This record gives sequence, C-alpha cells and structure tokens, in this order.
Amino acid sequence: AVAADAPALVFQGNDIVWACASCHGDHGAGAGLTPALAGLSEAYIAKQLHDFATGSRPNESMQYVASAMSAEEIGQVAAYYAALPRVVGPPVDLGGDAARGEALSRTGDWKKDIPACVTCHGQQGEGVGGHFPALAGQQPEYIFHQLVSWKGGHRHNSPQSLMDDIASRMSEQDMRDVAQYFGSL
Ligand code: HEM
Ligand code: HEM
Repeated sequence: AVAADAPALVFQGNDIVWACASCHGDHGAGAGLTPALAGLSEAYIAKQLHDFATGSRPNESMQYVASAMSAEEIGQVAAYYAALPRVVGPPVDLGGDAARGEALSRTGDWKKDIPACVTCHGQQGEGVGGHFPALAGQQPEYIFHQLVSWKGGHRHNSPQSLMDDIASRMSEQDMRDVAQYFGSL
C-alpha cells in the first residue's frame, strides 16, 4: 500500500500500486531481478521507460508496459517513484565479498582498466543528478544481472555511459562483490 498522502495515480484503469507494484513491490522496493524504483531520479526512470518502449533496452514485460504509456503517464510515474525513499530489503547472499566490492567501487582496478564506480554513482552509491542511478540499496541480484547483461551485449541502451565497456573488464566475482557491497548499503 502507498502512503495516505501519495497522489492517486491511475495507469490503464489500475492504481499504480497494481500496475507496477505487482512486480516492483510495495513502495517501489523491488525484489530479486526486479529493481527498486524508489530513489531513482525522474530523468533516469523516464529514460529507461523510453528505452524499453523502443526496445533499445530489451525486456518483454517492460516493453509491454512502457509502450502502453503516454508521455504524460511516464512523467507522472517517474515523479511518483522518484519521490519515494529507497527501502533497503533483507540481506541477500550473492556469494560476493562486500569488503572487496567496496574497495573496487572506491578505487577501481587499474590493472584491468576498471574505474571507480563512485566517481559516477556517488561516494555512497547514492546516485548523482538525473543520469547516474543510485546503486545503494538496489537489489543485489538485479545489480549483478545488469552487469552480466552489459558484458554480454544484451543491455545496450546507453553506450555513452561506458557501462558495457566497464562490465566487459569485470570478472563474474568482481560483479558479485560490487553487487554484494552496493546492495548492502
Ligand atoms: C525494470 C518501471 C511495471 C518488471 C524497470 C525499470 C523501470 C521500470 C524504470 C528500470 C529500472 C532501473 O533501470 O533501475 C516500471 C513502471 C511500471 C512497471 C513505471 C508500471 C507502470 C512492471 C511490471 C513488471 C516489471 C508489471 C513485471 C511483469 C520489470 C523487470 C525489470 C524492470 C523484470 C528489469 C528489467 C531488466 O532486467 O533489464 N521497470 N515497471 N515492471 N521492470 Fe518494471
Ligand atoms: C548504470 C554499476 C561505474 C555510469 C549502472 C547500473 C549498474 C552500474 C548496476 C544499472 C543501474 C540500474 O539499472 O538501475 C556500476 C559499477 C561500476 C560502475 C559496479 C564500477 C565498477 C560507472 C562509471 C560511470 C558509470 C565509472 C561513468 C563513467 C553509469 C550510467 C548509468 C549506469 C550513466 C545509467 C545508464 C543508463 O542510463 O541506462 N551502473 N557502474 N558507471 N552507470 Fe555504472
């Protein structure tokens, strides 16, 4: 359920709680491979919905949802979730080493040309401005899966972000470690 003072937001005849929360959970907290939406910026959410609609970010469920939305609805839903605080869920064991993930995210690994994640995602992974999404408190499995997707060329909606390039240099263990770290914040 949403807070009593949340705006009534209806998408295709359903309260937003049903339209999105059936997958993204109460309060936009996310679960497993479905990301938290709370705590992402308006601009980032709107961009991802656009990319799902055009298919430049492939995902069947989200393509279906996003291509049914008007520009106005995208704006409303983006503002709604951006205003919700991120709720950190119960710990998830991804088999990652959070301490090593913290070191990698703060200093990168220059032997492998991996930059420090915090230069773009914020010192605490809190996200920066409209374009650099918050990783702190994001679902660890989702973070891991996105890195795998970039490395495999499956997510290719934002070449200017260099995420495909960065992920291509990360080992599976690197990915587990950073996902374990950011997911625990
Ligand atoms: C991803 C919004 C409904 C499943 C996303 C993302 C956004 C979003 C903005 C990307 C988040 C990020 O990059 O961190 C919404 C909105 C919805 C909605 C506004 C309602 C209008 C649904 C439904 C489902 C779903 C109904 C399940 C049937 C997913 C999944 C992903 C995702 C699995 C991750 C896709 C991937 O792995 O790339 N959604 N969503 N969403 N959503 Fe939704
Ligand atoms: C998106 C992880 C370094 C720029 C993402 C996402 C993850 C991630 C998991 C997807 C978030 C979501 O879907 O909600 C990491 C890790 C890094 C790192 C683990 C370090 C190893 C960087 C750096 C930059 C950067 C150094 C800037 C040069 C971005 C941008 C996006 C993004 C712009 C959004 C892409 C879009 O709009 O589709 N990152 N990142 N990241 N990252 Fe990084």
